[in-house]
Amino acid sequence: MTSGFDRTGRRERILRAAVRQGLLEPGTAVLACFVDLDGLDETVTSLRSAFPDSVRVLHAFAAKANCLVPVLEELRLGGMGCEVASAGELAQALEAGFEPARIVFDSPAKTRAELARALSLGVAVNADSFQELARLDEILAGSRTGSRLGVRVNPQVGAGSISAMSTATATSKFGIPLDDEGNRRRLLQAYRDRPWLTWVHTHVGSQGCPLALMAEGISKAVEFAEEINAHLGRRQVTGIDIGGGLPVNFDSDETTPGFDTYVDHLREHAPALFSGEYEIVTEFGRSVLAKNGFTAAYVEYTKTVAGRPIAITHAGAQVATRTVFAPDAWPLRIEAHDPRGRAKRGRAVPQDVAGPCCFAGDLLARDRALPLLDVGDLVVVPDTGAYYFSTPFHYNSLPEPAVHGARVDADGRVTFRLFRPAQAGHPAPALA
Ligand SMILES: Cc1ncc(COP(=O)(O)O)c(C=O)c1O
Repeated sequence: MTSGFDRTGRRERILRAAVRQGLLEPGTAVLACFVDLDGLDETVTSLRSAFPDSVRVLHAFAAKANCLVPVLEELRLGGMGCEVASAGELAQALEAGFEPARIVFDSPAKTRAELARALSLGVAVNADSFQELARLDEILAGSRTGSRLGVRVNPQVGAGSISAMSTATATSKFGIPLDDEGNRRRLLQAYRDRPWLTWVHTHVGSQGCPLALMAEGISKAVEFAEEINAHLGRRQVTGIDIGGGLPVNFDSDETTPGFDTYVDHLREHAPALFSGEYEIVTEFGRSVLAKNGFTAAYVEYTKTVAGRPIAITHAGAQVATRTVFAPDAWPLRIEAHDPRGRAKRGRAVPQDVAGPCCFAGDLLARDRALPLLDVGDLVVVPDTGAYYFSTPFHYNSLPEPAVHGARVDADGRVTFRLFRPAQAGHPAPALA
C-alpha cells in the first residue's frame, strides 16, 4: 500500500525543528533518534483496517522491534496488545500499561519462574516445545489459569532471503516441527490431554520472507488447528496466532507491501482463518515501527583516503548493529543534510559514511553517492524505528542516544517528547 503520507517532508521538518530546539547540537547532542508519532498512528490504522471486522483480532506489537516504554504506551493507546519474548520485555509491557490478557509471551527459553509469573498474571503463553508443555503441566498441576495457552508449531516451509530471520526452516530452533516423524500424532495427543491448550501459534519469519511463503506457513498452521478440532470432535482450538514478519521496504519512503496486501494473501492461502471460528493474534514489529523512526548524527570529520571521501559520523554499530555487521542483508538509506537540517543538494559523490566505533568495518554505507558531506553536516538514516536505536549495542562504551517522539500539527509546528534521555557519557578529561 502506498499512502499520501509525506514521510520525506516530515523527516526534514522534524530534523530542522530538532536543530532549532537544540535536540541536536555539535559537541553535545551529536546523535539523536526520532519516532514520528503521527506516522505511527497512520501505520496502526492501516494495520487495523486491513483485517475484516467480522473476525476478532488482537494486534500484539512485537516489543523486540522497539521496546521503549513510551512507544509501547502509544501503541496501547492506539488499541494494540503486546508480544514479549523475555522477562525484560514483559516488565516493559506492564510498565506501558498493557492489561496482562493483551500480552503474549513467546520465547524458546522461558524459565520455570517466568512461566509461573506469566500464568499468575494471566499473560498468554505459547509453548515452544514438548518440554515446555511438561513444565506448564507441573506449574498448573490441575489448577485453572486465566492465560490463553497455545503451542508454537513450525510449519517447515523453508527460508526467505535472510537465513538468520527465517524461523520456519526444516531445522529452525523455534516451535515444534510439524512434519518431523511422529510430531503430529504427539501434538494431537498433547491437545487431547490438555483441554486448556486452545491456541495454535506460528511465526514463519521476518524480513526477507516473501508473502507467499509466510501465507503458506500460516495455512499449514490453520490446517493443523482444523485437524486438531476434527480429531478431538470439539472446537478446542479457538484462536490462531499468526506471528509477525511483514517485510519492510528499505529502498524508499513507500510503505510496501501493505498489511492489506498481506491479508489478501492470507485470504487466498488460509481462508479458514477468516471463517469467524477463530480469534486471531498478530505480532507485527518491524512493519509497525521501522518507517516511523529515523536517526540523525553529525559529521565530526571528513578525510580522503586513496581518493575515497570518508565522513566520520556519530552513528555506527552502536545504533545500526545489523547494518554494520551484515551490510548486504540490511542496507540502509542515508540522506545528507546541512547543519540546519536542510536537505543538501548538489552533485552526488561516492563516499563512505563511517561511525565512531573503533573497528574498520564500522560503516553505515560504502561508496554511497551523496552530496559531499562536510564537517558539521548531518546524516539522516531513515527506516530505523525498529531493531536499531531502541536496542543499542554498547561497544566502546558509547552512550545510548536520546530518543524523541515527534508530532507535527496542522500548522507544521513540531512538538517533541523525550522518550529516552541520552545516557550520560564519560566526561571529557579536563584540559591542563
Ligand atoms: C515470535 C515472533 N513474533 C513476532 C516477531 C516480529 O517480527 P517482525 O518484526 O518481523 O514483524 C518475531 C521476530 O523475531 C518473532 O520471533
